[in-house]
Amino acid sequence: NKVIFSGIQPTGIPHLGNYLGAMRQWKRIQDKAKEGDKLFWSIVDLHAITMPQDAESLRQRKRQMLAALIAIGLDPEKSHMFYQSSVPQHVELMWILSCTAPMGYLSRMTQWKSKLQANPQKVELDDTTVAKLKLGLFSYPVLQAADILVHRATHVPVGDDQRQHLEFSRQCVGSFNHAYNCEVLVRPKTITTPAPRVMSLTNPINKMSKSALNERSRVLITARETEIRSRLMGAITDMEPNVSWEPFARPGVANLLELIAQCRWRARSQDGVEDDDGDGEGGRETSSAAAEALGKGEFAGVSLRVLKEAAADAVVRELEGVRERFQEVLKRRDGAYLDEIEAVGAAEARKSAEETMRMVRRVVGLW
Ligand code: TYM
Repeated sequence: NKVIFSGIQPTGIPHLGNYLGAMRQWKRIQDKAKEGDKLFWSIVDLHAITMPQDAESLRQRKRQMLAALIAIGLDPEKSHMFYQSSVPQHVELMWILSCTAPMGYLSRMTQWKSKLQANPQKVELDDTTVAKLKLGLFSYPVLQAADILVHRATHVPVGDDQRQHLEFSRQCVGSFNHAYNCEVLVRPKTITTPAPRVMSLTNPINKMSKSALNERSRVLITARETEIRSRLMGAITDMEPNVSWEPFARPGVANLLELIAQCRWRARSQDGVEDDDGDGEGGRETSSAAAEALGKGEFAGVSLRVLKEAAADAVVRELEGVRERFQEVLKRRDGAYLDEIEAVGAAEARKSAEETMRMVRRVVGLW
């Protein structure tokens, strides 16, 4: 049977990138799951504190994220949803893994670099960098590996930007199993989503992100129809009047075509499941192929205005009802509903994690 795990940061209300890149895929996996498969979706609050933040706002953003997962169709009867900090075994395994995980690999990872400086390529681990760098931000991928490995997950569905972290998780399995001469930890496969990278609407060479300063660069999944339309009609493209498929020269146009392809694409039958060391190109090809077909067919030569209208229509249809469900779930039984769902999910997750930890503690010699 499959054990499927993925995580998302408690950024509050998710945007279209989180949704198309991850959450919608989670729902689809849930709906296809077979009897006996286990599904865990974690809101990773411990990862959120690697950057400075406000306590009250973190509490609120966790609840909003949980409500959003339910609003897009994750079903507590089938999916276990929980806050990472509710399952202390994640942190326990993180420490144990960090005793066998290779530092060299961590020091090359781009995520902590991009949080320190806009250009990750230019960051070196010299004395000044080390002085600024917080240990938690540096070891972030070890906690992420522990999240996955503590449930002995077989499959991890993520967007394109997480592939490096997944590769590191597989390295952690190798280092641990080798160091203790055992087979306790399981190598997880990456499932790349059909929309691996949704780009910013105002600067389409960057990915859509919660932290970008310009709010118009993203669409929240609870946006009103008028707002969705205004964001898409205002998307930055380029000076050419009509649509053509040139993903490198015209990233803004390509991104809109991708959005349309994603939202319309109902028969998404193939996920890009990577081999252990696969490069995960499968998912990207399927997505871009559909966008390319639109750019060279239906939309070839039409005006950018028509393209933007079509993108707005597609996104409006895709997000229909999410706003209402989100608000209802957040208020249901004065908030007690969300707490109960989380408590049940966390209890299941602790059971699963404790099973692994019993084996881990034995092979290490702690027990
Ligand atoms: P996070 O919270 O940044 O993103 C959650 C998921 O959304 C995807 N995503 C995107 N996909 C396409 N286009 C975008 N613009 C876009 N923005 C975000 C991400 O790829 C991701 O799948 N480190 C992780 C959280 C994490 C985790 C884990 C994931 C912690 N532990 C264990 C998997 C397994 C993160 O920061 O994701």
